[in-house]
Order: sequence, then C-alpha cells, then structure tokens
Amino acid sequence: MTTSKPTFHVDPYERNWLILSAVMLVVFIGAVSVAGYALGIQVPGPEQRVDPNTVATDPNSPWSSPGLREIVPGERYDAYILARIWRFDVSPDPAIRDLEVPLGATVTFYVTSMDVQHGFVLENTNLNVQVVPGQVSSLTVTFDTPGEYNFICHEYCGSGHAVMFGRLIVK
Ligand code: CUA
Repeated sequence: MTTSKPTFHVDPYERNWLILSAVMLVVFIGAVSVAGYALGIQVPGPEQRVDPNTVATDPNSPWSSPGLREIVPGERYDAYILARIWRFDVSPDPAIRDLEVPLGATVTFYVTSMDVQHGFVLENTNLNVQVVPGQVSSLTVTFDTPGEYNFICHEYCGSGHAVMFGRLIVK
C-alpha cells in the first residue's frame, strides 16, 4: 500500500487573482497612509454632542457668542460657527459675515447647527463637512496663502440655501 502525499492545488487563475487582491490591499493601505500622514487629509467625524435647542442661547455654549477665539496670538485660533436658516453666525453681530485671521494661522473650526442639516465647505482647503443639528463638526486648517476664502452651505436646507455663505480673510 502506498501513501500519496496530499497536494495543495490552486488553479493559476485563482492564484493570480489572490495575488492581485493582496497587492491591491497593500496599495490601498499605502494610499490611505499617505493621505492621512503625508497630505494631512482628515476624515470629519462628530467632535462632540450639543443640544440644538439651547446651543445658541446657553451662556455656557461657545456658540451663544460665535466667532474667533485667539489661543496663541497670530498662530492658533478656534472658530465657533453657528449654522442656521439661512446664514452662518461668525460673530455675535449677525450683520458680520467675515472672519479674519493672520497669515500662517492655524484655525480649528467648530461648526454646528441650531435647526436643520447644513453643510460647510471652505474653498481651497480640505475643510468640507456636514453640519448636523446636535453634533459638532470640527477640522483644523493652516492658512499659508493670503487671500479671501469663501465658505458656503452645500447641503440643501430650504429656500434661503443659496444665500448661506460667508468669507474668511487671511492677511
Ligand atoms: Cu444651509 Cu444649505
């Protein structure tokens, strides 16, 4: 009686597809790593939860007095922005639609909504988030190029959606 050694046979087509799948996994992990660590692309996620009914009025809420906070003069700023139908509050004075930061400033944006779902996109940056009532959307951007950066609401939020915009000035 002879004992035959079991052989592990893989069809060449199957083997090639397995190899290709493994190579694609490595490429995708590399692409995500380069995007996250080298290019600084961030995936927006809810930073914290707030009550949309009181976020604009509670004196302990930073959005009751929206606008810039200087953390390190000339270098680091926090920007609290309140989205509402149909404008972005960037100051306690609703007539003000512009934010201004010095060249080279790193700004962390905290955006939330007090009513319906909005969007917030800042041109020429990777800042592009949904603004969901009850959640805070946050991303950090460093401004190394002077100029005017328009921001707009890019999720349809009603009849005034098209006039929901503002400006960040870097100089
Ligand atoms: Cu707010 Cu569209």
